[in-house]
Amino acid sequence: MTETRLTKYSHGAGCACKLGPSELSDLLGPIRGHPATTHPSLEVGLDTGDDAGVFSIGEGRSLVQSVDIFTPVVDSPRDWGRIAGANALSDLYAMGAEPLTALQFLAWPRDQLPFATASDVMAGGMELMEAAGCTVVGGHSIDGPEPTYGFAVTGIAPSDGVVTNAGAKPGDVLILTKPLGIGIITTAIKRGIAPDDVVKTAIGAMAALNDVAGSELRVHGATAATDVTGFGLAGHLLEMCSASGVGAEIDFDRVPVIEGALELLERGAWAGGSQRNLKSVRGSIKTDLPDAAMRLLADAQTSGGLLVALPAERAAAYAAAVGGWEIGRLSDGDGIALS
Ligand code: CO
Repeated sequence: MTETRLTKYSHGAGCACKLGPSELSDLLGPIRGHPATTHPSLEVGLDTGDDAGVFSIGEGRSLVQSVDIFTPVVDSPRDWGRIAGANALSDLYAMGAEPLTALQFLAWPRDQLPFATASDVMAGGMELMEAAGCTVVGGHSIDGPEPTYGFAVTGIAPSDGVVTNAGAKPGDVLILTKPLGIGIITTAIKRGIAPDDVVKTAIGAMAALNDVAGSELRVHGATAATDVTGFGLAGHLLEMCSASGVGAEIDFDRVPVIEGALELLERGAWAGGSQRNLKSVRGSIKTDLPDAAMRLLADAQTSGGLLVALPAERAAAYAAAVGGWEIGRLSDGDGIALS
């Protein structure tokens, strides 16, 4: 019996199956401002493209909530479950919140894949939630054409300690806490061309919690933060730039990339979602660098790192505390200058 290759059942790779920024904006257009999306206690809602919603519950505390589900990014059920857990929680960490509870969601093609495989996926999810100290309180499962898994998560934060993507200032330094290349590698996994050691590194990166990167935000006075997922570094950085009214200067030599990813990109491992990303960000990036640099910046990440803006004098201490890389700084222009 051959091992089940989960990625065979997935049309897109992880967060690369997310709708594009302009598609999302069109889709949400008709419900923007709807009474159901407004409330006096709502601090961060649908309007800002932030990682999670924030709702004040009084006494200086806020609920921080997000949901993230996706199709298989790797072939191992347990690893996929771990990655789905880390990815869902990442939106809470990106806002400076501490995870509290989670609801699990599973869609499963019952005629094509055994339920035992789904149990392995969930075991991976539980492993991550336990590590994060997040209690799984329930969930929902359906029979569906593609295996799909993830969580709706709720965290809690001091209301004055929530970090959005809108507070960055010109001169702030940008720190990235995980290397890029994940979309390229997961696409290569799906095609069966990714070397084992590269896969192992990518799984390690995707399944790593952004917990420390999140809890250190307030300690070091971060002005803005987001996690890098389906829109790629460039897409999420541009969201931060437009929400904060700043531009960004990125030093490409300092951007961390998983070893082996560039070679796989040259071999054509390039996700559909990343192509859409590149189309939507190209006009906002000024650069003389070869196309591969732009592609890496547009590469759709699954469970990527936090992208954090901090005052220049505090950035090095944050980077040291969380094991991050300084990749550039913010300016008073607009768009991204990549050199
Ligand atoms: Co996010």
